[in-house]
Amino acid sequence: MPERRYDTEVSEEDIIKVSDSHGNVMEFLEHGGQYISAKGVIMGKFPNPKTNFPRLKEMNIRSDDFFLCAYPKAGTHWTWEIMSMILQQTAEYHPLKKETHMLEFNTPEVLESVTSPRVFNTHLRPNNMPQQFFDKHCKTVFVQRNPKDVAVSFYYHCMQTIKFCGTFIQFMDFFMEKHGPVYHSAWPLYTLEWEKYFKEHPDHPVHYIMYEDLQQDPVSEIKRLAAFMDKPCDDQLANQIAEKCSFQNLKTASDTVKGGDRSMSFYRKGKVGDWKNHFTVALNEEFDQYLQQHKTDTVYKYEI
Ligand code: A3P
Repeated sequence: MPERRYDTEVSEEDIIKVSDSHGNVMEFLEHGGQYISAKGVIMGKFPNPKTNFPRLKEMNIRSDDFFLCAYPKAGTHWTWEIMSMILQQTAEYHPLKKETHMLEFNTPEVLESVTSPRVFNTHLRPNNMPQQFFDKHCKTVFVQRNPKDVAVSFYYHCMQTIKFCGTFIQFMDFFMEKHGPVYHSAWPLYTLEWEKYFKEHPDHPVHYIMYEDLQQDPVSEIKRLAAFMDKPCDDQLANQIAEKCSFQNLKTASDTVKGGDRSMSFYRKGKVGDWKNHFTVALNEEFDQYLQQHKTDTVYKYEI
């Protein structure tokens, strides 16, 4: 695999600062309406989107590549591990972290060197996806989760990754883009754009997974997913994958098998309905109105 060493030079005028009156600040680099952490680039964690995204657009894709598309915190890690196990036909953890197969965190050279069969994952909006993804009609898995739980999970994620220090209520003003663009992209815009693309391209093979369904009946969802991927998956394999990918087992594996950074956990609570512990009545009303104004086609489950 080519070495991951990225250019950390960032021009001050490229940095977009979004702030509120409480002293909270988010700093991004943007390309095509996608906002990536400026600090992450400066620290050399991933490439600068300004130069890398146009190159990702041109990257080589293989027709048997699978794509996992999801808004951050919808359950990307969980689904990626399940898809990897289905592809490998064994309930063994992928030895690498999901991020090694993530479009926006890698250069085309690194991604193209990954051996097939492979599952790329991304939070990119359709306009930033590689052109060959569309041309080759790559099988796509689209994961969704109720936006209230997404928002809560994203809050904790932003505290860890971009060192957001405000309260959840203050974060929600950022999430609803009251101060400017939000990290990655706005949830309704992301969802609406993908819904539109799939609706207008019925020939693009897509499989929808809802986080809440995967939580409620993992074995059936794993079998449904395997059928879409055209891979055999009997009861025994589906049960083994469900067990290996339970919240607790994946959390442990991320520290042991994948040598995880304990200060950066993608396995926080893994529950449906945690939003009820964070939203006030007033915020819930406001967010419902926001969702109403940016209505998506998908119907979400807020509890199970
Ligand atoms: P919480 O913060 O609500 O716990 P992503 O991988 O897209 O970043 O999503 C992360 C969210 O998925 C986190 O949600 C994480 O705990 C949850 N998650 C990861 N693996 C899970 C599993 N096996 N079962 C349930 N939730 C899981």
